[in-house]
Amino acid sequence: MSLWGLFCSPNLQINATFDAKTNQIKKMKNRIYIKDLKAHTGSEVTIGAWIDVRRDQGKLIFLDFRDKTGRIQGVILPGADIAKAVGETVRPEWVVEVKGKVNSRPEKNIQAEKQNGDIELEILEIKVLNEAETPAFELGKDTREVNEDTRLKYRYLDLRTDRLQKNIRNRHKMAKLIRDIFDENGYIEVETPLLTKSTPEGARDFLVPSRLEKGAFYALPQSPQQYKQLLMAGGIENYFQIAKCMRDEDSRGDRQPEFTQMDVEASFVTEEDIMSLNEKILIDIVTKLYPEKRIQEIPFPRIPYHEAMEKYGIDRPDIRTDKEDPNLLAFCWIIDFPFFEKDTKGGWTFTHNPFSAPKQEYMEQLMNAKRSDEGLEKIIAAQYDIVLNGSEIGGGSIRNHQAEALFKVFEILGYEKEKVENDFYHMIKALKSGTPPHGGIAWGLDRLLMLLENEPNIREVMAFPKTGEGRDPMMQAPSGVSAEQLKELNLIVKQ
Ligand code: AMO
Repeated sequence: MSLWGLFCSPNLQINATFDAKTNQIKKMKNRIYIKDLKAHTGSEVTIGAWIDVRRDQGKLIFLDFRDKTGRIQGVILPGADIAKAVGETVRPEWVVEVKGKVNSRPEKNIQAEKQNGDIELEILEIKVLNEAETPAFELGKDTREVNEDTRLKYRYLDLRTDRLQKNIRNRHKMAKLIRDIFDENGYIEVETPLLTKSTPEGARDFLVPSRLEKGAFYALPQSPQQYKQLLMAGGIENYFQIAKCMRDEDSRGDRQPEFTQMDVEASFVTEEDIMSLNEKILIDIVTKLYPEKRIQEIPFPRIPYHEAMEKYGIDRPDIRTDKEDPNLLAFCWIIDFPFFEKDTKGGWTFTHNPFSAPKQEYMEQLMNAKRSDEGLEKIIAAQYDIVLNGSEIGGGSIRNHQAEALFKVFEILGYEKEKVENDFYHMIKALKSGTPPHGGIAWGLDRLLMLLENEPNIREVMAFPKTGEGRDPMMQAPSGVSAEQLKELNLIVKQ
């Protein structure tokens, strides 16, 4: 049977390992997770684990083992000669299969505050499944102090540490909860393309050259904004997606070139519908996954943009009443944003998203406006941001669902009619084909997690982030490509 056949065999249970020495897949019989060992007190068990710590006390060798569920202290007692021979050679991070007996610890050795502090594994046999080179940094300690490049170069080692294990597992829990809640509310998750066309989201695009159409480029999406609106044109009505977004901008603590949005769009909705549903979901996430945290104020306060700027001098105010409290969450909505603001050249630019609609009462003013007009900053958009502890964790709006209004916005932004018809033909045609009123929001999922996990930056809650310079030191990306690849793409790189 091929290796693949073995992996796929219905008889093969999940706890299988590959033995490089014999070139065979072996099933680890009856592997018990470390968290479950207590229930096996008095019996012999097999675990599969990493060596976490090794302490050789001559007569006794202590080996702490670690798997995804936790840690257990193991001991090789005098007389267990076969185990001792292996126990003397193993080192931290070696991967082992261990047969042992789960014993209760004598009263005086119980460490009540520790996982498995009242039991111990008496090691009978150790089989080395893989050795490990000495790790580039210590894994038993918080790695936040370790040089960032080194941490990212050996990210798989960093991922073994308690903090990153917790962050990545909690990220999964949050994604699962989000999916469940949206599903219960009648939303469906739809994937949208990564190879697409540039969309004006305010940042620089990452471009991908086309091989088949020489000289043409795809753009990686800065967000699924246009696709989600086209899904509304497509009658999906209630969409969400945990979506990858790419923006070629300088990284900061809360900004990565590649990040994840929790993206939502719905038809026949008002601002109130979107804000209240999202508020409910955020409260659900906090109460179910972070019960130790306290939300400062429910319903979340709604602060008009001008009031925020006057009172706090910023449109993402930190309104916490106690900034020392790591468990205090002060959410607020910022509403009533001006649709347009002056750009550096004295023309008008959008403050958030060119696809937003103005609030109903400003629609007439918008439709009568010209680019040369003064005072367009008075037009208020049907737009909202969600802010948590001074960080913008999301933003959205009700969109223009009528083509004329979208044309008008682009006219004020200074786009030629032809360019709009060319670049946004699909949007215009879709709006003209019977698109219902719609609106939505996107949260920065990494930012939300960063705040909930009390982490100083979003890299700590991503499995494989980039450095501040946008590099992945582990994969060594970005990197050069072969002359052959460039030729295929009809590209020449200037030296
Ligand atoms: P916006 O551009 O405001 O809106 O993005 C939504 C949220 O995404 C997060 N975010 C980022 N997180 C990490 N790294 C980045 N580089 C980064 N850029 C943005 C922020 C932000 O609030 N399509 C619209 C949403 C909509 O209107 O529905 C959009 O993308 O938390």
